[in-house]
Amino acid sequence: MSYETILTETDGAVTIITLNRPKALNALSSVVLEELIDAFAAYQADDSQLCAILTGSGDKAFAAGADIKEMSEKAAADFYLQDFFAKWTSHIVKTTRKPWIAAVNGFALGGGCELAMMADFIIASENAKFGQPEIKLGVAPGMGGSQRLTRAVGKSKAMEMCLTGRMMGAEEAERSNLVAKVVPHEELMAEAKKTAALIASMPPMAAIANKEMVNSAFEMTLDQGLVQERRLFQILTASEDKKEGMAAFIDKRDGNWKGR
Ligand code: CAA
Repeated sequence: MSYETILTETDGAVTIITLNRPKALNALSSVVLEELIDAFAAYQADDSQLCAILTGSGDKAFAAGADIKEMSEKAAADFYLQDFFAKWTSHIVKTTRKPWIAAVNGFALGGGCELAMMADFIIASENAKFGQPEIKLGVAPGMGGSQRLTRAVGKSKAMEMCLTGRMMGAEEAERSNLVAKVVPHEELMAEAKKTAALIASMPPMAAIANKEMVNSAFEMTLDQGLVQERRLFQILTASEDKKEGMAAFIDKRDGNWKGR
């Protein structure tokens, strides 16, 4: 499939989606959104693909935010009537049940930071810079930044980031639990691919259930989350891959997964 603003490729069971507007620092226009929705749906639908990576092209940016030039021409009524930004969550986050990683190679600002935080986790290069600078444009985060950043780094730091619009470097982002791992810039994609291939080698149904459980920690009370965890665990015990996984452990060999 060929797109105007993104690139997609597969490497074994790993899908790599690259934001590809380097001259605009991969700003997230409406076309980017529609193309990402299509690419993530294709990844979700393809049984041969078991983990995805989202990254940005060029050396400078993952994504420097929603497209300011596009937004500058819109009226408030357009944003409201189109429920602008709603599709990111409804069409990408909620419908992508399989795992995906954000490999952040540079600026992840505004919507770029918010998009990275939609991933299951973030691997960052030493050059990565995160921020929610929307306040400087007279607005505020609109793609989940006030909620996901606060859940990731806590109120004090999230509040300071949103109110000052300052950027956070990779080392601080790792220390603040925003990213899972920081690696040298030139090793970013190798590390992301290695991690994605490892996830893709796991029993696929168990991967989806693990993702669902961890996400529930942000959406349910502790009691509800613990019940959901037990139910998903119990469902997995009925899978062929549970039988195979435990037999493989006892036989001291690798599992041969059926994905069910
Ligand atoms: N939208 C549209 N175009 C953008 C953009 C954006 N978010 N960010 C950068 N660009 C464009 C610039 O306009 C410039 O284009 P031209 O060459 O045509 O002038 C090109 O990308 C390169 O950018 P700079 O010349 O500014 O590069 P720099 O190295 O001097 O600065 C930067 C880099 C600090 C990231 C700076 O580009 C910047 O501050 N960008 C905007 C960041 C921002 O405010 N993001 C939040 C957007 S609002 C949002 O995302 C809402 C939301 O919550 C969803």
